[in-house]
Amino acid sequence: MSKGEIKIFRGYVDAELNKALSYDIVVVVDVLRAGTTVVTALANGALKVIPVESLEKCRSMTGCILCGEENSFKIKGFHLGNSPLEYVYNKLIKGKVLVLKTTNFSSIASKCLARHKNVIIGAFINFNAVADTIGELYRKGAKIAFIECGNRGKESFEDRLFCEFLEHYVKSSTLPIRNSLEIINMVMAASDHAKELANKGFLEDIGFSLTLSIYEVVPWGRNDGFVVPK
Ligand code: MLT
Repeated sequence: MSKGEIKIFRGYVDAELNKALSYDIVVVVDVLRAGTTVVTALANGALKVIPVESLEKCRSMTGCILCGEENSFKIKGFHLGNSPLEYVYNKLIKGKVLVLKTTNFSSIASKCLARHKNVIIGAFINFNAVADTIGELYRKGAKIAFIECGNRGKESFEDRLFCEFLEHYVKSSTLPIRNSLEIINMVMAASDHAKELANKGFLEDIGFSLTLSIYEVVPWGRNDGFVVPK
């Protein structure tokens, strides 16, 4: 059987997002931090995570747990921020629908969900699970788009690194690094977003987000949100 195709797109460039959405599967990538937050929330018992474009939309969703950040910090009046560590063993999210508003990820992810049936989230913390899923589809001939969320319209080093590692791994079954510490060092040296988060006191989020394969879950798009299919 012929192999598929993998291509990396900048989701914050409209023309690239449009092109990416013509592929068979799209993998949304926002390593720091929202993609990692969604994986963590679902791995810790949340029922569904709905990314939204605006604060107004968030506030209109009654009965949901409101989550998200503005300038990296928790939004006033919301239950939770965008630190993945807030979601680990958090009883508040068990069996609940979460609504998430963030600077970059939430609007790109909600556009993907509105326009595509096969949307998944890839992060370092679910690397093996995503690589297995993607690998199988790639070997069956699927065209797979990796969509980077970036940071305020610019490329994020950590998203590009993740996409390149995942592509390399799917195609060769080897990783060009040995451990998470190497990833952490690379990202801390080259990512403006990581430096900004570290300066704001979110250093622990960076270490967590760059650790390989903590969870086995792969979030899949279902209507307006992400779930872990049973
Ligand atoms: C985003 O979606 O813009 C990011 O996750 C920002 C952040 O680090 O909180």
